[in-house]
Amino acid sequence: MSSSSVPALQVPAHIGIIMDGNGRWAQERKQLRTQGHLEGLKCAKRIVKAASDLGVRYLTLYVFSTENWKRAAEEVGFIMGLVKQYLKGELDFYRENRIRLRHTGDPAGLPPDISRELREALEETCSFEGMQVILALNYGGRDEIVRAVRRLTAAGLPPEAVTAETIRRNLDNPDIPDPDLIIRSGGDHRISNFLLWEGAYSEYYFSDTLWPDWTETDLADAVAAYQKRERRFGGVKP
Ligand code: FPP
Repeated sequence: MSSSSVPALQVPAHIGIIMDGNGRWAQERKQLRTQGHLEGLKCAKRIVKAASDLGVRYLTLYVFSTENWKRAAEEVGFIMGLVKQYLKGELDFYRENRIRLRHTGDPAGLPPDISRELREALEETCSFEGMQVILALNYGGRDEIVRAVRRLTAAGLPPEAVTAETIRRNLDNPDIPDPDLIIRSGGDHRISNFLLWEGAYSEYYFSDTLWPDWTETDLADAVAAYQKRERRFGGVKP
């Protein structure tokens, strides 16, 4: 199915993507894992454009988790380099397409140069009214919830004021609606600490295709599968 054949009205407003499979993509080609991440970055650019063309309003990309620091220092350094390259190199594209860049995750744990580039890109694009791309960077779903509860307790709220609603309002981006669709590439069927709170009623789509091989068609297929789902949010069919 081509991306243009997806009816605009049924497009999920918010899609989250676990971009998995870069390392295996490289290994299959007897290349370094870092080459897989480089291809993964190219793929992310392709999918951002495809999502914007489809009319998706919010796209959250799982770039680097709170657990990814356990990887070899060279791999971590390489991914951070790619993030920096992305933040600098994509600004013209963001300006042209009026795309707003957002962040979810703990900014405190980021290397200072990445933190600075990120802050500048967020400021530069903050008034753009097109699609919003949320980079999950130093992100963990559990960590996000812990930070939200800490904000509540730091504000001196009594225990009875800790509710689902007050926690929700203290998550990283409370103005962004929960993801309608969460996609994972690369064949594994797990959520890996991604949008734990926000994904409570998301539809999940798992694809065997490794992330660097993802194209506009894969995204359109995921959206088409989403359109066949019946969402009940814990209720029953009327
Ligand atoms: C998971 O694949 C991928 C990552 C941990 C890094 C994702 C980063 C990028 C796609 C590049 C940066 C993107 C942007 C938008 C700045 P894996 O390494 O776990 O793959 P494997 O399961 O095959 O080992």
